Amino acid sequence: MPFYQKRGVVPNKRHTQMRDKSGILYSEELISRNGFSGMYSNLYHLNPPSAIQEIGEYNINKLSKVLGTHKPLHLETNKINFYEDFFNNRVPLFFNDDLVISKCQIKNSSKKLFRNGVADELFFIHHGKGSFKSNFGQIDIIPGDYLIIPKGTTYNIEVIEKIEALIIETFSPIETPERYRNKFGQLLEHSPFSERDIKTPTFLDPVSTKSIEIDVKLKESIQTYLYENHPFDLVGWDGYFYPYVFNINDFMPITGKIHQPPPVHQNFKGTGFVICSFVPRIYDYHPNSIPAPYSHSNVDSDEVIYYVKGDFMSRKGVKEGSITHHPMGIPHGPQPGKTEESIGKTKTDEFAVMIDTFKSLHVTREAYKIEDNSYPFSWLNNDN
Ligand SMILES: [Fe+2]
Repeated sequence: MPFYQKRGVVPNKRHTQMRDKSGILYSEELISRNGFSGMYSNLYHLNPPSAIQEIGEYNINKLSKVLGTHKPLHLETNKINFYEDFFNNRVPLFFNDDLVISKCQIKNSSKKLFRNGVADELFFIHHGKGSFKSNFGQIDIIPGDYLIIPKGTTYNIEVIEKIEALIIETFSPIETPERYRNKFGQLLEHSPFSERDIKTPTFLDPVSTKSIEIDVKLKESIQTYLYENHPFDLVGWDGYFYPYVFNINDFMPITGKIHQPPPVHQNFKGTGFVICSFVPRIYDYHPNSIPAPYSHSNVDSDEVIYYVKGDFMSRKGVKEGSITHHPMGIPHGPQPGKTEESIGKTKTDEFAVMIDTFKSLHVTREAYKIEDNSYPFSWLNNDN
């Protein structure tokens, strides 16, 4: 996030000596984006963060695309059989060159640490509670949270109640839209959220445990390392690079006299994608307004919607945990009856997360296993 944060102790000047009481020098680490030209933080460790003791297993986890299919999809993610394992329990459903969309279930806390070496991660916490612990500190996580973990952050999640989450791994930074920020990076008056809504890490005492395992995730594999020093051995850090949480309930919707298009619901963006939050809101107030959206052909986008809670106004048959995918190349819109049904309604209680991608998505084998086969034909008017 583009606002400065400082935790613990840091030297008055960057790259200068800072020692403990016995005179031992703390070890500085710079984490930065775009080489040395993007956002960064400086971290101060008890020990160097680079001491590898052992190189462990290298596990390949290939993304399995299915060729030769193009159709609207409805996936019932409540039917996924999740693995027990903490880090391999992600089930990828869609992917392209810019991102991977998965669903995960975390039942047990892990002693191992985890670091994504190639992607930023967004966890949308649908159910459950936990404590996200990282080298930057701790953040409580609850339903409705978007947990944003920049690439290179080392973390684990302690489970308080079984967690079910949608995960979006992105190969570019996850940011807030430029049009909501002034030239200093501050969120503007018309932004649907502000800095007050952003939860940043609470600093924890340095951990001095030795020999700690870290799984480093790459695009289609995981490399395990044994490190000599615990990466949570920080005495302080400062900068603009850190994990944070924004809760969907803090998204203040923009409404209009007639139907407002999805950009008013935009929450995040990156290269090749946008992420939108649909939240309870008052419907359009023109006397002849139609709250349900019109049919649309977004010729440059694939659209994925994850249904969280409430009655989704334009879709038949979807339920909590459903995902719809409307690929570019074909129009989609409300199913028969849904347009008429929406007229005269004054508000909606829906929660949903939408991901629009600007490159076509590949659908995985795992996704087809939980497909509702009737969905592509759900726009037929069966009354005729
Ligand atoms: Fe749509």
